[in-house]
Amino acid sequence: MPDGTTPDGASYWDPSVLRTELDRLFYRNWLCVGREEELARPGDFVTREVGLESVLLVRATDGRARGFYNLCRHRGTRLVEMSHGEAARSFLCPYHAWSYDLEGRLIGAPHMPGTEEFDRAEYGLHPVRVASAGGFLWANLDPGGPDFATALGPFLAKFERLPLADLRRGAHQEYEVEANWKILVENFSECYHCAPVHPGLNRITPYLSGANDATFHPPRGRSLFAGGYMELTRDYQSMTRTGYTDRPRLPGVRAEDARRIYYYVVFPNLFFSLHPDYLMVHRCWPVSPTHSRVENDFYFAPATVAAPGFDPSDAVGMWDEINRQDWHVCELAQAGMSSRAWTGGRYSSKETLVRDFDAFVREELARGASPRQRR
Ligand code: FES
Ligand SMILES: [Fe+2]
Repeated sequence: MPDGTTPDGASYWDPSVLRTELDRLFYRNWLCVGREEELARPGDFVTREVGLESVLLVRATDGRARGFYNLCRHRGTRLVEMSHGEAARSFLCPYHAWSYDLEGRLIGAPHMPGTEEFDRAEYGLHPVRVASAGGFLWANLDPGGPDFATALGPFLAKFERLPLADLRRGAHQEYEVEANWKILVENFSECYHCAPVHPGLNRITPYLSGANDATFHPPRGRSLFAGGYMELTRDYQSMTRTGYTDRPRLPGVRAEDARRIYYYVVFPNLFFSLHPDYLMVHRCWPVSPTHSRVENDFYFAPATVAAPGFDPSDAVGMWDEINRQDWHVCELAQAGMSSRAWTGGRYSSKETLVRDFDAFVREELARGASPRQRR
């Protein structure tokens, strides 16, 4: 098999491959799971599905965001069924009514005082590491992995000039896609397909414009993000239906940023797309080997969102069209790669980041299993 052959079909449909990817990629890396503003006050909470796990994120009484595996320590029942809620004082298990405070401590366990050698202090919720950076909440299910700053500090440092934490969400879209999560990442990592698939996008940022400036394989060590930028052609101002916008640029945008759209994959599943006037984020969650759920959020300057008549539909509508064009070809790729005839293809010179990502996945899988939750 020649060097530079794409992965074989089983990588995209075999349930055992996905289980390994969840263990070694998703349960080991820092994942973007939300936004500080979603947990505005103590007791506000959200639950997030991360592969086969459910994570409970809560603003604790000390003001910190905390994360827990969303399961009761009595007999393992899913603790919180709601996707979000406000001002909770505690969490009550729906089965036998054990209860936990916002710091995850077990505070009520009926009839357990009669159980031999039962120490309530040992049965708090299993913690999940949580970090806050750029206004985003990040979770890591590996208790032994690197801290957030070591893992993703270099990525956020690229955008230090922008007050990302101040941005406010102005739109949210969700998509169900019949394709393996890696097909979506690979698709985001190249614009080889842009001329045939996205004539509207290609008109505003021609597919041969720009450059890649980050790879998972830098000269020294490894990096957890890869991507680059594309250039706005003519006098276009942003990726909107017309290519123009009345919105002011984001605070901190430099003259060169105003001519570019930056696109980065943050490993494994975050797409970060910085436009002159908005930040767009896709989070791509594997539901099964052949199905992914995509969350697509748009963030704007606070004054822009608060202005009367705020209407992001020029950007959101444009991206909805681009997204659907992408999901369609991703679903076709999934269908074809499920064929018994498929044994892998070849990368073009315009797919260096796809090759980079596929190689990184292989290497990360080879690094071995993530430790199970330590007790
Ligand atoms: S499983 Fe939660 S109280 Fe019994
Ligand atoms: Fe695309």
